Amino acid sequence: GKTVAITGVASGIGRRTAELATQMGADVIGIDRNPPAQETGAFLQGDLSSAQGVQALAQALPDGIDALLNIAGVSGNTGAAPTLAINFYGLRALSLALAPRMRPGGAIVSVASIAGYGWRGNLDRARALVGAQGFPDTARLAADLGVPDEAGYPVSKEALILWTQMAAFQPAFRDRGIRVNSVSPGPVETPILTQFREVLGEARVNSDVTRVGRAGTPGDIAPVVLFLASDGARWINGANIAADGGLEASINAETM
Ligand code: NAI
Repeated sequence: GKTVAITGVASGIGRRTAELATQMGADVIGIDRNPPAQETGAFLQGDLSSAQGVQALAQALPDGIDALLNIAGVSGNTGAAPTLAINFYGLRALSLALAPRMRPGGAIVSVASIAGYGWRGNLDRARALVGAQGFPDTARLAADLGVPDEAGYPVSKEALILWTQMAAFQPAFRDRGIRVNSVSPGPVETPILTQFREVLGEARVNSDVTRVGRAGTPGDIAPVVLFLASDGARWINGANIAADGGLEASINAETM
């Protein structure tokens, strides 16, 4: 079987992806800052919010991993600085640290969000975020770029979507045949969605849910992530795949 490292396995989409990968015969190495209630395969406790945390995780992971699934994330309710660190810089640093030691032909899949689709309209900001090398001081970066706390979440996902496209052509990944893609869910019933309801308001979340008839479930997202990590997706690179029940299409159809 393939060896798959999955971040965010203690909850929601990450947990479901780890279960499904295990059912499909993969060796899963789960990563989370919280220990999972039930372990699926091996587990590494660690924190993606700092350079040191990422370095410790990278050192603990073995060589020859087939896929890195960057699923851990936060809602943004703790401010822009930690949100940018966890939702973008942490997963980028882990991806760059592992790439030289991954199996050639492997894959990186990150979970972005429909909330990140504003990247084209905020291209200078997204470029500046992706252009900040290594693990920058995100409090300072948010201040310099004028990212208010309530925008930390969408801005972190804008950076992730732009980076995914650029990374596919970076030597660190391309020269090793490692594909880099993202999946963008709409609202999915997990603890994060409860936080979005508190931050964005019930009405805002409900209007998205009503458009497509229901909220997504972790089981709607996990197979898409695993498909992008599989050899069947070998000709998909630098792409962002929506898994949102048609939410993006519905909004576009109305506004374009
Ligand atoms: P969740 O809250 O159920 O799971 C997130 C997991 O990430 C938790 O187990 C948490 O402990 C872990 N995590 C958070 N910060 C961490 C850190 N610093 N280091 C290590 N682990 C950390 O949320 P959910 O919904 O499963 O989210 C997974 C991904 O899906 C996130 O990136 C989220 O932004 C994205 N997403 C979720 C949507 C939703 O409506 N639920 C919609 C669009 C995207």
